[in-house]
Amino acid sequence: MTDTAKKLQDIVALDEKNARDLSSKPERASDLLSFFASMKVDASATRERKVQLYRVWSTVKNASHRQVVGEMVIQDKFDKKQKLDAACKFVNNLNTDAGVNVKELEKECGVGVSVSFEITTEEVRKALHKEKPEELKMKWDKNPNILLGSLFRVDALRWADAEDIKKALDVLVPPMIENVKVESATAPPPLEEAKQAATNKGEKNVKVCPTTTNYLEVAKGLPRTLIRDLPTVTPGTTVFLVGWAHRVRHQSRMSFVILRDTLGLVQVVFDGQTIPFARESGIAVRGKVVEEPKAKADRQPPLEIHVEAYCVLGESDGSIETIITPESSLDKLLDQRHIVLRGTNAASALRVRHEVLRAFREFFWSTGHVEVTPPTLVQTQCEGGSTLFDFLYYGEKAYLTQSSQLYLETVTASLGNVYCCLPSYRAEKSKTKRHLSEFTHMEVEYDFNTFEEMLGRLEDVICSVFDTVIRRAGNLVAAINPGEVIDPDESKLFDPTNYRYMPKKPFRRLRYTDAIKFCNENGILNTETGAPFKVGEDITDQPERAMVGKIGEFVLMTHFPHEMKSFYMQRDPNDPALTESVDVLAPGIGEIVGGSMRMYKYDELMKAYDKEGLDPSTYYWYTDQRKFGGVPHGGYGLGIERFIVWLLNLDSVKDACMFPRYMGRCKP
Ligand code: 4AD
Repeated sequence: MTDTAKKLQDIVALDEKNARDLSSKPERASDLLSFFASMKVDASATRERKVQLYRVWSTVKNASHRQVVGEMVIQDKFDKKQKLDAACKFVNNLNTDAGVNVKELEKECGVGVSVSFEITTEEVRKALHKEKPEELKMKWDKNPNILLGSLFRVDALRWADAEDIKKALDVLVPPMIENVKVESATAPPPLEEAKQAATNKGEKNVKVCPTTTNYLEVAKGLPRTLIRDLPTVTPGTTVFLVGWAHRVRHQSRMSFVILRDTLGLVQVVFDGQTIPFARESGIAVRGKVVEEPKAKADRQPPLEIHVEAYCVLGESDGSIETIITPESSLDKLLDQRHIVLRGTNAASALRVRHEVLRAFREFFWSTGHVEVTPPTLVQTQCEGGSTLFDFLYYGEKAYLTQSSQLYLETVTASLGNVYCCLPSYRAEKSKTKRHLSEFTHMEVEYDFNTFEEMLGRLEDVICSVFDTVIRRAGNLVAAINPGEVIDPDESKLFDPTNYRYMPKKPFRRLRYTDAIKFCNENGILNTETGAPFKVGEDITDQPERAMVGKIGEFVLMTHFPHEMKSFYMQRDPNDPALTESVDVLAPGIGEIVGGSMRMYKYDELMKAYDKEGLDPSTYYWYTDQRKFGGVPHGGYGLGIERFIVWLLNLDSVKDACMFPRYMGRCKP
């Protein structure tokens, strides 16, 4: 373990794996340690303090805001995680150059507020008495969490303990609904209920925000406007929006909702009483666009929509508040991935993924490559038997493909340079940050090339994709990976040169034997033997990441010994013990690309099958490429999820896909 990793464990209280991972990114590690030093926190501090400070460092984007929240941690101002989270959210919503109004911040995140069990019970009781008994019974019978969710939105209960609320509900609700009968399907329209409830409370002339159950009446013939297009709409214009209630604050005479669609957020103001819809309800609104500088926040334009009419298209029951919480375990979050994907961070990562795929495809189109779609149900192996998923295909043994490479090679003689973007499967028996059982494989095969040319093309595609993605989605990349941004000014986020890790050509080249020397000279040990590396040993995940972390930029690691690589790889003409092979290593994740020149001579390939124990008869279609006009050629495969982990500095490839598949998980 390196010195830095040890410090990260002792001072920051990271576990061994996270400490090792972070120490492979020297700049990030030193930033984190300086933050702790600036807070005068060393190894002797309590674990809770360390955990809170690490949370501040990892969630607050702006360094000066981080300092303010960090000081509050030192002053023990956060006795609950939800308060610290509220503080981080508050400062992240400020402009990057804005100072922090500490009083306002303390108020917003409940500093000094404690809610005793007695007060909690009393507030729960008051809130329950505002509910109609029939409705209360319906909610309780359907799912008690619905009540829990809505109670958290009561101001007096915002900082209460969830367990206390649950206990209070368990005591208070059953006697209140004991003799209540619910008539089915004859409930009055919700708005009428709301009006009635208000009148019951003695409020005269209740103003009600106009609603209907027919969204066409809301639209009044207007086409839908997407939230992201609102900044181009002239203030005063009436627009029709459809979205989901991202955040909801209902007051007795007004409601404020942050509406979300396609990653856009906008503040919507309902003047008058509304149906008490919960977060994540689907809503249609017609309203006027009004300039409002104060509404500006992260991903939210400086304007509001003043509602003229609205319609709840799809209700959400309040249980959404309890499905995932800041305390939810990783496993729980993955079980509820469909809910997590509604959150801004996860959705932004998917949006960036879309831009990455688009940029790769555009690069290949613009450089004359042809996209093909080989089958993924196959009867041959490409990358060794140990990671094959097999299954019975109408009674015959078959596999899920490990790579489409062999099929790509079959069409180069007719189509030229080709590529595909398809799933590949590996029965990996490890759950590391970079291994999936199903991943998206961007694979390229050239019809004729030299090894040097291939290395140059790899540099070109990586630099071009980075450039394109930043120009289109720099704001999202910067929001998820702020540590790489040089100038956080919004106008600079779409400039690729404003990112410290912008890849620059030529990439550093390191032959495998020199990589072994590099590790040994830099104290990077073989984690399997605990000793320095010997030539012929695999530089596995962790040491590979430590090596590229130390180098701090992309590395083209080349010329692996042939015993370590796949059967089809072309030998190095200068040293037949080696192959013309390359792994591209990226800081933070390690290998993102594997590629090589391919054996193109019939006899060599036949010997290679023999050595590997492969039956040539099943590979006849692959061998035929050598029988009928084999020419020097090569190609590579890039793991899209690993590329995204590098780009966004994600914890794991699991965060770079919709619904990750890895050992032990095949749901949802
Ligand atoms: O190095 P690999 O195994 O190379 C091949 O499959 C070649 N046949 C590709 C080719 O030349 N057309 O895999 C290529 C890349 C890796 O560098 C990595 O990015 C990704 O595929 N990859 C994985 N990604 C996530 N989870 C896994 N289990 C992966 N295995 C490989």
